[in-house]
Amino acid sequence: MRGEIFTLLLATWPCLQALFIVKSEQDSYDGELREAVRMGCRFSDIPSVLHISVIWQRIKPPPEVEVFRLDKGVENLNITSKQFQGRVRLLREELEKFRAVIELSQLRLNDSGTYQCLVIHDEADYKQTKLTVSAPYKAIKKSVRRLNEKEVELSCQSQGLPLADVTWSDGKLREPLLTNRSKSSHTTNSDGVFVVTSRLSVSENTNNYSCSYITNDGKPNQIATFVIPDEIPEESKGATGYIAITVIVLLCLGLFCTFLILRKRKKGQTGSDMRSIECESPGEDLTVPLTDQKTSMSACSPSLQG
Ligand SMILES: *[C@@H]1O[C@H](CO)[C@@H](O)[C@H](O)[C@H]1NC(C)=O
Ligand SMILES: *[C@@H]1O[C@H](CO)[C@@H](O)[C@H](O)[C@H]1NC(C)=O
Ligand SMILES: *[C@@H]1O[C@H](CO)[C@@H](O)[C@H](O)[C@H]1NC(C)=O
Ligand SMILES: *[C@@H]1O[C@H](CO)[C@@H](O)[C@H](O)[C@H]1NC(C)=O
Repeated sequence: MRGEIFTLLLATWPCLQALFIVKSEQDSYDGELREAVRMGCRFSDIPSVLHISVIWQRIKPPPEVEVFRLDKGVENLNITSKQFQGRVRLLREELEKFRAVIELSQLRLNDSGTYQCLVIHDEADYKQTKLTVSAPYKAIKKSVRRLNEKEVELSCQSQGLPLADVTWSDGKLREPLLTNRSKSSHTTNSDGVFVVTSRLSVSENTNNYSCSYITNDGKPNQIATFVIPDEIPEESKGATGYIAITVIVLLCLGLFCTFLILRKRKKGQTGSDMRSIECESPGEDLTVPLTDQKTSMSACSPSLQG
């Protein structure tokens, strides 16, 4: 009797465990422009993942596009949408842990959307997740340029989204005054993000100035500080530059003159040398270039030996 119950249980067991379930590991993912992101879904434990199929699609915004496809254990990149070609891979080692994880690299702003992970192994199930690619402002590039004897121009540049306001302050917190005196402008680059530049002319008196990039999306502000006059490019640097250029020009002139003198002397020599190697064509022009002279020499030498 017990044995019978046991066989009955064994027979019904596959039905009891039949549910093959896929779960999203996260409801949403955040990625940064040009960086990479890993998105994963988890599926029910199965005896072997060798012949599993995994299909990642982006279903929103329309049209639906294929991001990655593993057909019964074989990658099929033929169907991958152009937009994702060469930028997506499946982390194979994670399959063993019943996870279907893709890594999407070189993120673009328009990769944002809703993605669907479909896993097929006898049965199939799928789940969705969202990806948002943002472009927070990166570390500010700053530069200092001398305008005249008393003034320098400070300049800050950074890129990101959304459009940032740039404010300036100094040690005495004169923000509106300074910001009103600054000039800010922006362009859009090929990634579709704003390149924001702001310039401020200041006297070279001792002070610290900061430019701040402020956006209204809750991302931390970027700030760069100039310590004046420490960061003013040294004038002597400019002077050394000029000296270096002068030296180079003089050297070149000297070389050129030497070359001319040598050439003149060589020409005189060539005249006398040529007389001794005039063998096959006595009428040839005596002012052949030095290289030609060599070849004519070697052409003549066998006959001279013989
Ligand atoms: C991909 O396409 C090539 C040629 O179009 C074909 O030979 C190959 O079998 C395809 N690969 C798969 C996995 O379908
Ligand atoms: C700065 O400019 C704004 C408008 O451009 C003006 O309302 C404000 O009064 C100015 N602030 C100072 C301190 O000049
Ligand atoms: C997505 O943005 C890139 C630029 O970052 C562009 O080259 C590409 O054409 C865009 N793709 C679509 C489908 O709009
Ligand atoms: C400028 O900053 C430096 C370093 O942060 C500090 O030592 C110096 O006192 C500051 N100078 C002024 C005028 O605020």
